[in-house]
Amino acid sequence: MTALSQTALLLELAPVVEKNLDRHLAIAKEWFPHEYVPWSEGRTFDGPLGGEAWAESDSTIPDVARTALIVNLLTEDNLPSYHHQIATLFGRDGAWGTWVHRWTAEEGRHGTAIRDYLSVTRAVDPVALERARMTHMSAGYRNAHDEEMLHSLAYVSFQELATRISHRNTGRAVGDPVCEALLTRVAADENLHMIFYRNLLGAAFEVAPGQTMRAVADVLANFQMPGNGIDGFARKSVAIALAGIYDLRQHRDEVVAPVLRQWDVFNVTGLDADGEAARDQIAAHLDDLERAAARFEEKRDARAARLASR
Ligand SMILES: [Fe+2]
Ligand SMILES: [Fe+2]
Repeated sequence: MTALSQTALLLELAPVVEKNLDRHLAIAKEWFPHEYVPWSEGRTFDGPLGGEAWAESDSTIPDVARTALIVNLLTEDNLPSYHHQIATLFGRDGAWGTWVHRWTAEEGRHGTAIRDYLSVTRAVDPVALERARMTHMSAGYRNAHDEEMLHSLAYVSFQELATRISHRNTGRAVGDPVCEALLTRVAADENLHMIFYRNLLGAAFEVAPGQTMRAVADVLANFQMPGNGIDGFARKSVAIALAGIYDLRQHRDEVVAPVLRQWDVFNVTGLDADGEAARDQIAAHLDDLERAAARFEEKRDARAARLASR
């Protein structure tokens, strides 16, 4: 079996895009970011308007929730780079183009809503946040294999679900029902995005099983969250993992494994030799993740016990 070209894949999957786009538009509920922001709690900041500067004491939420909100927001902020990637790869015409623009419009709400909430509630330092945004966006974003259609579809299937879980758990960690409601709403969008991409890649397994398996194996082997370019990302993600907002256990059990199960990767037929090799790599990767997650949980428990005994 010869490998399908990027163009052939786009054409083969176009009817699937059309069907899933219709499905998405029928179930996606309209919502309004402004309704999730407690505007009357806001106060004017210093600067040209002469209000009060942000002070550490303004923020009443846990440190780690603040970190997670910043990471999630900066991740959403890089939308122009993500748009560029998918517009380049999927094109701007036909059903693919309609999806690209619609997805971008939906994602645009996320950053807007979270930033409004953070500004009004003074939950984070707005100057530091703006500087971090400038640094992060100025670097732009590229995911690995960004010129490969199947790799990109595999990546976003996992990434949208990872983002959903991260928003959802951040909402809980903040301890403010208003913020939780907002992030739950955002997480619901991410879930629909995940389903769209997951269905598309599921169809790709039928069209080009070996190529698709290879793409999934490659993507899992070096999966990075889209915010990995954020200043201090490594340190921040450790804090986020320790708080159980997004850790290896969740990555394995709530993101990677369920998506693989939906594709039924271990029962896909018609694989070529490389597809079989890729599937073996996926199985090995799941085992590696299991060991790493268990090790992490042990360390986290030991740390918690140490802190409790102080
Ligand atoms: Fe988003
Ligand atoms: Fe999304």
